[in-house]
Amino acid sequence: MSDMITLLGIETSCDDTAAAVVRLSDRGPEILSSVVSGQADLHAAFGGVVPEIAARAHAERIDHAAERALNDAGTRLSDLDGIAVTSGPGLIGGLLSGVMFARGLAAGAGLPLFPVNHLAGHALTPRLTDGLAFPYLMLLVSGGHCQFLRVEGADAFLRLGGTIDDAPGEAFDKTARILGLPQPGGPHVEVCAATGDPVRFAFPRPLLDRPGCDLSFSGLKTAILRARDALVADQGGLTEGDRADLCAGFQTAVAEVLSEKSRRAIDAAGPGLTAFAVAGGVAANGAIRDGLRTVAQATGLPFVAPPLRLCTDNAAMIAWAGIERIRAGIPPEHHFATRPRWPLDATSPALLGGGRKGAKA
Ligand code: KG4
Ligand code: ZN
Repeated sequence: MSDMITLLGIETSCDDTAAAVVRLSDRGPEILSSVVSGQADLHAAFGGVVPEIAARAHAERIDHAAERALNDAGTRLSDLDGIAVTSGPGLIGGLLSGVMFARGLAAGAGLPLFPVNHLAGHALTPRLTDGLAFPYLMLLVSGGHCQFLRVEGADAFLRLGGTIDDAPGEAFDKTARILGLPQPGGPHVEVCAATGDPVRFAFPRPLLDRPGCDLSFSGLKTAILRARDALVADQGGLTEGDRADLCAGFQTAVAEVLSEKSRRAIDAAGPGLTAFAVAGGVAANGAIRDGLRTVAQATGLPFVAPPLRLCTDNAAMIAWAGIERIRAGIPPEHHFATRPRWPLDATSPALLGGGRKGAKA
């Protein structure tokens, strides 16, 4: 293999059918193409991702997505050094659609195949976008996930803590639902919070009283529900001001908890960190991002937040994770299991309640 590595990445673990071509050369990493075909329209009527519909849509769309990714990149199959595919965690039907496609394409074209953990894709993204050196601390905050990882290598992750129930994005979405705001709720709650009073409601700061980096968000959601019900019982409904104050109180609580737990995670991660990085849709939230940046600055660490299109689900991160595996000398695999559950850090203790209730990772 030459100094240049070019991989096709395939991602079908939830409701985005994605394919991308990424190249590493002496010019550094380059995303030659990144195609993401979302399925929000297919699932909207059901209030969540329907696994069977997702799997079928992936199977129907993945060959077009891959063809487009190759065309956009101006590459042919013969220009590739391999194919990287998400083999877990995620919805099994969708994962199988992607894995079967990648296996067939790799076998047909005689290319090596690299199974990739979707979470490793998120966790390694700051190396693709910002060239971070190992080790760094990663906070993954999405609709389905919340965890602190010390990222030590292409296949070396130490989990320092995470949510024991809901993910923060899930809490934003449920808060929006409780307050009658549209889905996905995060951006709407943020807009609504901008004019609100963050101290009118005394919402809890879950698990701050306990040591460690674990988090919990389901109690906060219940507190919002109670506050809403009390207002409705009192005055027969919610005013715009009530809604803004509830959103501001909720968002401030989430931001404070994430900031304090990040401070602890930086301490717990030990010496030698090169940066504090964040990924996932919730990282789009200005108040949360500002809080995390302040924590990083106070500890003297650079704060790295990849552009949003690379923070959320995409296939460039999967192709990149494959390139990282090649550089680390990890051999390709053609026979591997597709795993709906696949913790990045096999040594970490099991989470209460599984720790992952949302469809996305
Ligand atoms: O990473 P992502 O696109 O999908 C996965 O969950 O993998 O994250 C989506 C989540 C949703 O729950 C959405 O409400 C939340 O990120 N989100 C936000 C904001 N933008 C998106 N949460 C808070 N504030 C935002 N501005
Ligand atoms: Zn994800």
